Amino acid sequence: MKMRTRILVPDDQGLQDACDLLAQGEIVAIPTETVYGLAADARMAGAVAKIYAAKGRPSFNPLIVHLPDLAAVARYAVPGPQARLLARHFWPGPLTMVLPLREDAGIASIVTAGLDTVGVRVPAHPVAQRLLRAYGGPLAAPSANPSGRISATTAAHVADPETGLGGRIAAVVDAGPCAVGVESTIVGWSRDGRPALLRPGGIAAEAIESVLGCPLLRPALDPAAPNSPGQLASHYAPRASLRLDAPAPMAGEIHIGFGPDSPRGGLNLSRRGDLTEAAARLFDMLRRADADGRPIAVAPIPEEGLGAAINDRLRRAAAPR
Ligand code: TXA
Ligand code: MG
Repeated sequence: MKMRTRILVPDDQGLQDACDLLAQGEIVAIPTETVYGLAADARMAGAVAKIYAAKGRPSFNPLIVHLPDLAAVARYAVPGPQARLLARHFWPGPLTMVLPLREDAGIASIVTAGLDTVGVRVPAHPVAQRLLRAYGGPLAAPSANPSGRISATTAAHVADPETGLGGRIAAVVDAGPCAVGVESTIVGWSRDGRPALLRPGGIAAEAIESVLGCPLLRPALDPAAPNSPGQLASHYAPRASLRLDAPAPMAGEIHIGFGPDSPRGGLNLSRRGDLTEAAARLFDMLRRADADGRPIAVAPIPEEGLGAAINDRLRRAAAPR
């Protein structure tokens, strides 16, 4: 199913073309502030099935539904008081919430993998906002990368026929590099109503806890926390092997450093030790290191703020496949 992947400019004509393709049941990669998403109309099972096929994604893995604001979210899901509080603080932005699915939502069950919950997100990227408002319907969108591989933070990553989805999707809307660079933080609620961190991401867990005034359950630590299908151990994998917590490379390795003390001459996520800058550059640097062909070694990253999301992605990228 080779096709020509169109590169669309994010002007009125480009967004109109993207909307037309989506309305015809095609899949289109779109920019968000976290990573590029591979979008389909969440009401069209056949269109959503194309996402799974293009990504080679296991079918039990539910997708996030993107909407322009909380009012639109409330047409498909049921936000409780804590969800509304988080929406006021962090939407639009890199937060996804797993909420009860409304019975009359009309979301295709392939989106939720048959669950009675739905992951919803209101992206802040101006192009994503304009597209969602112009389209006027819910867009299911996982990250726009082949399943299990490195996420895409530029349109060129998406369109690459070797490491991306070029030739397998109708179009990509090119709005330059993504500012945040790691996926959204995912929050859900346990059966007894306690909030849980399902995936660390672009908003630090500490910031969410301070708004809620209580700690988030951690699924790995607490059996009462809801689980999140799709949090596979091996994910974001480069083709080369990856060694973590490596202050310096061993012979034959390519090094990704962090901070001023990392050896010069290799790559560095942030020479000034800034975790926000490091998150924004993470996937691009993993791709560049992977293109080199040598085994990859990555410097230790502090487990605080966005460092938790960076370390989560690095541990999965390094996991046995
Ligand atoms: O930043 C992001 O979140 C990006 C951009 C494109 O918005 N999207 C993204 O989607 O990372 P994806 O498909 O790569 O990750 C979505 C994850 C799934 O793996 C699953 O773990 C979780 O969200 N998820 C979605 N719906 C869920 C549900 N109903 N219950 C539990 N987990 C859910
Ligand atoms: Mg993904």
